[in-house]
Amino acid sequence: MNEGNLTKLIPFVCPDCKNSLRSDNLSLHCDKCDRTYPIVDEIPDFILGDSQNKSTPIFKMAKKADLLSSFYESKYWYKLSLKLACARKSSLESLANFHAETLKTINGSVLDVACGTATYSRRIASSSKNVYGIDISMGMLKKGKSYIKQGHISGVYLSRASVEKLPFDNAVFDGVICSGSLHLFPDTVLVLREIGRTMKPGAPLSVQTFIEGNTIVNRMLKKQPWVHNFKLAELQQCLTEAGFEEFEYKFDGPIVITFSVKKAASN
Ligand SMILES: C[S@@+](CC[C@H](N)C(=O)[O-])C[C@H]1O[C@@H](n2cnc3c(N)ncnc32)[C@H](O)[C@@H]1O
Repeated sequence: MNEGNLTKLIPFVCPDCKNSLRSDNLSLHCDKCDRTYPIVDEIPDFILGDSQNKSTPIFKMAKKADLLSSFYESKYWYKLSLKLACARKSSLESLANFHAETLKTINGSVLDVACGTATYSRRIASSSKNVYGIDISMGMLKKGKSYIKQGHISGVYLSRASVEKLPFDNAVFDGVICSGSLHLFPDTVLVLREIGRTMKPGAPLSVQTFIEGNTIVNRMLKKQPWVHNFKLAELQQCLTEAGFEEFEYKFDGPIVITFSVKKAASN
């Protein structure tokens, strides 16, 4: 619990039917679907079933992320991947600053989509901001939990969930971060709509992702069926279709883009 943080906690809901959940120390239960979601090492797991089926995209993606989790936040991984992407000015710290700046006016609750090791959740949480990190990789989340404990950080709440079915009610978040992952989701508009569903009208979404370009990283990524290389106009079109407005972006090198958008007030 975030001492001194008066922000109201957001309860999890069933990712399928959005019904409220009954909890005991070991699990959360949906009476409507009659589903039980276990709590593993203090992390509610909303995708246990899907993630056990080896043929699902979630299983394959989570496995890759699990493997990466132990060295993901090491300076070598972040530095190397940004260098290969020809991003000269970006670093973990500069991206954290970008997200902090986008969300600076928020007093309330922030969702960190595909949070990995709670990379940015940990750096954004404060006495005026609770951050809810979701990811499909238990390896990433457990590593994140260990960093949170080591750093005595409060106000970060992790759960294992897929961005396609978020375990949160409509219009509960004051802001959202989606860093390093938008290009990984098979259906961008569907995901953006699901993220938007959980946001209050006018709330900001802060994103870092990759755009198509002729770099080593892009050439490598192009060969991977699980990565999408956006064109700028296509990205803008997806955001508009999903109900976002006020697209403000900036490039660092040819393929790294950071941007902020707002959930349209009329959606
Ligand atoms: C490159 S990491 C980014 C982690 C963190 N946001 C950061 O920028 O450091 C991509 C993350 O996306 C997660 N991911 C991929 N597909 C997902 C999905 N459908 N739902 C939730 N998380 C997903 C992976 O498990 C992985 O942790």
